[in-house]
Amino acid sequence: MEPARIGLIGLGTMGAALALNIAEKGHRIAVWNRTAQVTRDFHAAAGALADRILPTDSLPALVAAIAPPRAIILMVPAGPVVDSQIAALRPLLAPDDLIIDAGNANFHDTERRSAEAQAKGQAFLGMGVSGGEEGARHGPSIMGGGPRAAWDRVAPVLETIAARHDGTPCATWMGPGGAGHFVKTVHNGIEYADMQMIAEAYGLMRDGLGLTSAQIAPVFAGWNAGPLKSYLIEISAAVAAATDPETGAAMLDVIVDAAGQKGTGRWTAIEAQHLAAPIPVIEAAVSARNVSARRAERAQGQAEFGAGPQPLDLPLADLEGALIAGKILCYAQGFTMLAAASESFGWGVPLPECAKVWRAGCIIRSAMLDDMARALAETPDRNLILAPAFAALLHQHHGALRRVVAAAALHGHALPALSAGLAWFDAMRTARGTANMIQGQRDFFGAHGFDRLDGKPVHHGPWGDHG
Ligand code: 6PG
Repeated sequence: MEPARIGLIGLGTMGAALALNIAEKGHRIAVWNRTAQVTRDFHAAAGALADRILPTDSLPALVAAIAPPRAIILMVPAGPVVDSQIAALRPLLAPDDLIIDAGNANFHDTERRSAEAQAKGQAFLGMGVSGGEEGARHGPSIMGGGPRAAWDRVAPVLETIAARHDGTPCATWMGPGGAGHFVKTVHNGIEYADMQMIAEAYGLMRDGLGLTSAQIAPVFAGWNAGPLKSYLIEISAAVAAATDPETGAAMLDVIVDAAGQKGTGRWTAIEAQHLAAPIPVIEAAVSARNVSARRAERAQGQAEFGAGPQPLDLPLADLEGALIAGKILCYAQGFTMLAAASESFGWGVPLPECAKVWRAGCIIRSAMLDDMARALAETPDRNLILAPAFAALLHQHHGALRRVVAAAALHGHALPALSAGLAWFDAMRTARGTANMIQGQRDFFGAHGFDRLDGKPVHHGPWGDHG
């Protein structure tokens, strides 16, 4: 039998969708799943694509079905399962056979696995895949990390299965080691922030303006025809428009207001702190999910302190403007963090390519990313808020963000992400800040010293015995 071009382990939702995508693009693919029945059922349901799919019932059979040098994608739960799968598979492979971890791995794990593989002369890639099930099936955004030569070997297959933006495949090598999974992690941090800011705008419309979900849906749909055009705004319109088949009520009105999370947003916040890279909008979004989960405490808080968010008056155009400004501020933070990580880990992540790879296929795809890619290509190390196109948008819309945050504060609406964005923006446009007071305090109680504005070499204040 003709051997497969590539192999895949793990036929869960994402693995199955990716395998079908690979087969549909004309590549023969061998598949294996821990439970053999899952493999058989998958193959039986593959329809016209079944001819290009080789189901196998053991790891040796999987390996034997693939043409060397082999490439095998792991689509198994992130964490220890990846390590045990690599341990089971490696002894069956030649050193130049390539294992590709396509799960949502923590990049520290990918760095470790890359180093282990490199030490033994084995090929390994860590690959971020975004777009959910639909993306995996019809065109995800792919962020690769590991040895460039290994990426180049599988790029022809990955480029055919990836989403395309104006004909350019959204599959890009981001750098060595854990660079691909790191870029995916920051993608998810931005995903959390985008979602949170949209939820904040929804809350203002629902609780402040008194709009129903059915009235909110066309507002999102309208925004999706302007600068906010994006997958997340598009699906927010669809979510708001949906009704519950069981009760006929608006779907949003039957969904519990406690957000789940699998941890990638949290990883972004943790890594940002390690890197001293300020990403307050993303951090606020992660915290907001944690606050949302504390429903009983929130109910007690409302009983103690008042009736929750109050009606207010705001033009919808201000809400749109606030979201435009908030989104730019959040992405500026995300790209700055990527630059800091790239420098700290010596990856050389190409920031414009990063913006490009997010233009299609992934959850945060949006019209704005095209302009961001252009701005980053012009001047890669300039903060995005200073790029002329985005500076102009911020000039135009930061007033709206300010009015929205101020009205929300006065009427008891929680806007953690939008207000964190505004505070960061105001700090970033203040040449003379207030940390001189912190430096004075640090020197007062701990003799930590400080720099003087006049450059004189006096490093301590006149605090007497306290100094
Ligand atoms: C993607 C998503 C995906 C992520 C989900 C759920 O890019 O396709 O980021 O990888 O797993 O969005 O994430 P949470 O459960 O943490 O919200």
